Amino acid sequence: MKIFITGGTSGIGWALAEYYINEGHQVGVCGRDLNKLPEASKPFLGKELSCFEVDVTDRVALLEAIETFAKGKLDLLIANAGISQGDKSSHPKFTTAREILKINLDGFLNTFEAGFNIMKKEGGQLVAISSVAGFVGLPGAAAYCGSKSALLKMCESFSIDFKKFGIEVTTIAPGFIDTPLTRKNKHPMPFLMDSKKAAIKISKAISKKKSLYIFPLRMKLLIILLEKMPRSLYRFIMSFSRFAYPSHYEEGHD
Ligand SMILES: NC(=O)c1ccc[n+]([C@@H]2O[C@H](COP(=O)([O-])OP(=O)(O)OC[C@H]3O[C@@H](n4cnc5c(N)ncnc54)[C@H](OP(=O)(O)O)[C@@H]3O)[C@@H](O)[C@H]2O)c1
Repeated sequence: MKIFITGGTSGIGWALAEYYINEGHQVGVCGRDLNKLPEASKPFLGKELSCFEVDVTDRVALLEAIETFAKGKLDLLIANAGISQGDKSSHPKFTTAREILKINLDGFLNTFEAGFNIMKKEGGQLVAISSVAGFVGLPGAAAYCGSKSALLKMCESFSIDFKKFGIEVTTIAPGFIDTPLTRKNKHPMPFLMDSKKAAIKISKAISKKKSLYIFPLRMKLLIILLEKMPRSLYRFIMSFSRFAYPSHYEEGHD
């Protein structure tokens, strides 16, 4: 198969790229800084692995990179590139929030557009990496939760819209996975999972063409409980949680 993964230079994206390379597939990845590619990628470079230094928010450059890799045929495209706020120890940061929405949403749309343009002829599968954070509004993560929630809804629509073109849409909602993105977190990360294990679980859901896959199971149960409970109770519980901003914000309004 020919598989392209945005944000495939690190974390979940690289774990997926490595998994698919080892399974004998041709893999293309992109990121803003190819120096992030791990040492383990070196033996595959220019052979099973093609790399593109592209920002997913640069629509034209991304379309060009994916078309260059695909050469008219793409089986699987994974919109994985994304950022989170990281440090939540100070005040809400509106500039960071806009950056999160730009990468996580514009970047996702640019990726799906590129995939749709190629796959509308022969079909294929588009995958979005959302998050369990998309099911609720977590304190300290408004833009991240908003972006991942939008992905869940957009993919539900696209899964119906794209069916007649022979394009399957799969949305993945992971819990906490051990990657550079989560290593910045200072809050507790229940049920944290290794990225290689996560890649195997994600690839199985993709091959089964699941429309939505939420994992790990214990996190899925927890997030469904939090999503379904009365919102006043949710707000009460979360106001005590260690996810929330401290009561005294630091100065600054970026
Ligand atoms: N780790 C978790 O617990 C977790 C849980 C749920 C969902 N997710 C989602 O899974 C995805 C991958 O996260 P991760 O944990 O693997 O993070 P990560 O290790 O920080 O990797 C993120 C990848 O995305 C790339 N990227 C970021 N911004 C980009 C941009 N504008 N253009 C192109 N590439 C960009 C990064 O490369 P450059 O920075 O060089 O561009 C990197 O390759 C994200 O969408 C994240 O929200 C993660």
